[in-house]
This record gives sequence, structure tokens and C-alpha cells, in this order.
Amino acid sequence: MIKTLIKGAKIVNEGQTAFLDVLIEGERIASISSNITATPDVEVIDASGKFLLPGCIDDQVHFREPGLTHKATIGTESKACLAGGITSFLEMPNTDPQTTTAQAFKDKLDVAAQSSWVNYGFLFGGTNDNLEEIKAIDIKTTPGLKLFLGSSTGNMLVDDPNILKEIFSIFRLPIAVHCEDEQTIKTNLSKYLKKFGDDIPIKHHPDIRSAEACYLSSSKAIALAKETGARLHVFHLSTARETALFQNDVPLSEKQITSEVCIHHLWFSDEDYSKKGTHIKWNPAVKSAADRAGLWEALNDDRIDIIASDHAPHTLEEKNQVYTKAPSGGPMVQHALALMLECVNQGKISLEKVVEKMCHNPAILFSVKERGYIRAGYYADLVLVDINKEHTITRDNLLYKCGWSPLEGTTLRGAVTHTFLNGALMYENGLIKEFNKAKPLSFMT
Ligand code: DOR
Repeated sequence: MIKTLIKGAKIVNEGQTAFLDVLIEGERIASISSNITATPDVEVIDASGKFLLPGCIDDQVHFREPGLTHKATIGTESKACLAGGITSFLEMPNTDPQTTTAQAFKDKLDVAAQSSWVNYGFLFGGTNDNLEEIKAIDIKTTPGLKLFLGSSTGNMLVDDPNILKEIFSIFRLPIAVHCEDEQTIKTNLSKYLKKFGDDIPIKHHPDIRSAEACYLSSSKAIALAKETGARLHVFHLSTARETALFQNDVPLSEKQITSEVCIHHLWFSDEDYSKKGTHIKWNPAVKSAADRAGLWEALNDDRIDIIASDHAPHTLEEKNQVYTKAPSGGPMVQHALALMLECVNQGKISLEKVVEKMCHNPAILFSVKERGYIRAGYYADLVLVDINKEHTITRDNLLYKCGWSPLEGTTLRGAVTHTFLNGALMYENGLIKEFNKAKPLSFMT
């Protein structure tokens, strides 16, 4: 059995930061203690000056396989996860075919079993007409359901109020929702189309996919969850106003209604459209600096529970089209954690809070078994970071199949140096080791 001793790091885990050594035996953490002595059969990693974190669990990624593999594949994007310190992901159902049947769900798991570099799980997709499939979901392999309550990539809008009520009433795992009110968006869009035709200036994206559309849809979903007792998780909050809909007076494990924020909504604001154009076109839209400030506040006071990437690659050719044709979404997994380390350096958030929101909380919320923490007996999914290391994101150091990033040219202080997956050192200072099969996530049901 391979044994690795990580020595000299400051461990950030469960709200504490302390100098502790970690011994890995095989796939799991064997012990955590101060000054573990190395035996001759142990490989020692000198981690002095670094922080050791649990591997991140990204609860919202789009890896495009099957059907949209000209943009990305599970193989290419999960490799980028390794470099970014993301050791597990939950992938979205807006592929082609959509993940809305037991067969499509199984097919995705089969592809990931052969090609994923990090541990994987898939949200099942709900539509206006797959209620029977939803009822038959295997809760041992499924973390939750994804519903698009506003249309986005993949035409998965669920807008039948009776179906929605039924899904919310019967489904007892987390229901993760994309909230943007369709009618509001349509009305706004037609106004701008009249004025500009297809070439609407990108700065109007947040006027079309407006704060109002987000608030209306989130508050409706929350009201329905309260009425039906559904376990609701609202994805990618983008406005300050919506944050008032969430509570922070009970621990996450007791919340019925939770929320997520994405890296791009914490990083960009509408001031960036003039420089970045459609490369920062997302649904929901990046909004004002005041919205961004409200998101930071809610993240730090625990009304927001999770930080995710919403990694959603499209090709540059697709993104460079006029407003109405350019798809929304961009690739983020490779730099999601590094960006948050930069934010730690800027004093916007503590490293302990980053670990809570990117590692512990996704594990709690989706009942992920034996991951998300540095605990003896848990899988050794671990990340070493150098909080002071500066690096610049350039096209030649990207691992995404689409080959571009909305962050190109950005210099960050804070870098992932090592990623361990199921006990194996898989990424070290820019180098990825030989392919090693990852594992399906298990869920406590
Ligand atoms: O910007 C987005 N892109 N938002 C979504 O909801 C979907 C995603 C995608 O799949 O492209």
C-alpha cells in the first residue's frame, strides 16, 4: 500500500487552522497529528509554507458530454479540475441527450468511469414531461435534481406550474434551480431587439436578464418550497436583493432552503462588459458592483452556503458572435479556487470560509459520503496551496478543450501546487500525472 506523509503544512479544516501532519495510506487519510514520524516505507512531501485544504467539491459544472463535445468533454474538463484543486464535481443535465432518463444518467456515469480525472456525480434533469423518470430515480447514485426555471443553454425550461408543484411535493433530495423569470426576460429582450436588432450591446445583458427576473423567479421557487416542504437549493445568486430571501440563523444541515454563488458573480461586475464583451455573458447575468458587494456580504454572513464555478465552456467562435447568438457561459474550474485565494489575499474572505463554502458545505448539502473534510478514515482528496505564489492566466496554460478563459491576462496571488485524489498525488506544480480512474461519489441516503 502506498503511504504518503504530508509534513509541515498548516491545515485548514472545520473552521480551524493548525500545523498538523497528515498520513495517507492507500486511498484514505490514516492519521492527522502533530509531528508524525516518517517510517522507511513512506514518501514524505515537505509542505512547509503551504496550506493543506480538503479537495473542493464543485456543485455546478457543465462538461458537455454527451452531444456537445466540440465544446468540452468529461475527460478534458475534469483534468482542468485537478489543476484547480477541484477533486469532485456535480455535473448538469443540459447535455445532448439531456440527462432526464435513467438510461441517459447511467450512460454519463459509464463515460465518467472511463474518462474522469476527478470524482464525479450527476444531477438528474427535470422537464415538463419526465415525472415518471423522476419518481424512479435511484437515490443512492443521484445527489439531486436540476430544474431550469429560466431558459438557458439546452432548452430545459420547466414552466408547467402543475408539474413543478408535483415535483416539489414528491422529490425529497435537493432540488437545485436556475432562477430567472422567463416572461420578464422575454419582455425585456423584445424591447432591446426592437431598438438594436441582433447586435444588442452586451452592457444591456443585465437589463434583459434583469435583477427583477432573478428576484421574481427565486421568490416564487422559495414560496413553492415552503408550501410543499421541498429541499430547495437556489443556484448562482447574482443580485443583492435575492440574498434577503435566505436565512443564516440555523446551521446548513437544518436549512430547507439554501443558496449558491458563482465565482464570476463574485469577481466581475457590469463595469467589465466594455472590456470582456460576450466572454463574460452568463445566465444569470453579471450585474452591478453593488450586487457583487451584496453577494460578498451574504456569503460572509452565511446566507449563501456554497461557492461554485458553473463551469460552462463554449468555443471562442460561438462566444464571439453577436449578442443574440453568443451563448452564455464560460470555463472556470481551473482557476475557481485560485481566484478565491486572491480574494483571501485582498481581505474579502477568510481561508477558513473558503474551505467551508467550497469543500465542507457541498458535502453537507448533497450528503456526499467521506469527502469534503480532512478527517481520519475519509478519502484523501487534498489540495496544497501556496497563498503567496503569483501566476498569470494565459491561453497557453489553459487545460480546457475550448482553449480560452474569461480570466486571460489576470494575475492572481495564490496558487494550487499539489492535488491528491483518492490518496494519489495527481497534480504537482503544473504537471499532471498519468491517468488514474476516479470514483463515483456516494451519497448518504
Ligand atoms: O451561463 C450559463 N451557461 N448559464 C446556464 O444556466 C447554463 C450554462 C451553459 O450550460 O452554457
